[in-house]
Amino acid sequence: MDVQKFVEEQVSDASSRVTGRAIVALSGGVDSTTAAVIVSRAIGSRLLAVYVDTGFMRKGETEKLNAMFSGLNLNFKIVNASDIFFEALEGVEDAEQKRTIIGRKFIEVFEKEAEATGAEYLVQGTIAPDWIESGGALRDRIKSHHNVAGLPSDMKLKLVEPLRDLYKDEVRAVARHLGISVSERQPFPGPGLAVRVLGKLTRGDVEIEREACAIVEEEIEKAFEEKLISSLPWQYFAALIPVRSVGVQGDVRAYGRTIVVRAVASKDAMTARFSVLPHELLENISTRITNRLGASVTRVVYDITNKPPATIEWE
Ligand code: XMP
Repeated sequence: MDVQKFVEEQVSDASSRVTGRAIVALSGGVDSTTAAVIVSRAIGSRLLAVYVDTGFMRKGETEKLNAMFSGLNLNFKIVNASDIFFEALEGVEDAEQKRTIIGRKFIEVFEKEAEATGAEYLVQGTIAPDWIESGGALRDRIKSHHNVAGLPSDMKLKLVEPLRDLYKDEVRAVARHLGISVSERQPFPGPGLAVRVLGKLTRGDVEIEREACAIVEEEIEKAFEEKLISSLPWQYFAALIPVRSVGVQGDVRAYGRTIVVRAVASKDAMTARFSVLPHELLENISTRITNRLGASVTRVVYDITNKPPATIEWE
């Protein structure tokens, strides 16, 4: 793939298509940041980047991204919508339903922002696997990625998706070419921690998941810096599953939750192999999670399933 040519074509396509104002759904991941930078090259200050804090972000994420966006020469706005998302998801157990609701709420927030700024276009960082796995290429629907299947049929905003035909490694090459600092960042699903807390969501459970996920990321990144592992996995995170087990806290019986640690190697997320991590690293993760989360987590397990037959996320 000729990266420079791709960027030129997409900038020129966006310049001719986007006649007025546009907003871009910016998550801070490599896909949406790359899409934002391309369209911003085409239409400059007619683009407003909107980052929605859904309440399902990773620990410290909003603060981190605030600093990163400030360096990107983009008009951007952070919308705190966590109450809206939590309320809409109350009591919802099914993963597909969660994704659809989250997709709809994202669009509602963006439509409101678009109206306020007079935008007619919505730029998204959708990439090929998002719509392929959502059943867009006549395959069976595996997961309705929120940015594809969550879109309402009567949406007024016109979509601009410059990365639609690319796979992740190609997007990273484009991002490197554009000098985007998050080019090597691991993928994070748009619905965020909402699909890493299995089943019904409570604020307390999302907090447990957020802490556990941060520990997994910190320990794996530290192991990479200290050369205990030779490369970072494609993705590495924690999921909170609704299984309780008996544990001991001091001398007292505890009956806590289960955290699954997942780390996989992949090229494009279409297939994946579980990463073989040193026992020492797994033990550090487990000890830190149980120390930090006390009686609420009594078991930490490592997922040794490839994709297929599993998927990368648990929901
Ligand atoms: P799965 O779990 O299907 O995930 O193997 C493949 C890749 O997609 C990410 N993922 C999502 N990304 N919206 C997204 O933007 C979603 O609803 C979603 N679900 C999964 C996942 O993290 C992995 O990188």
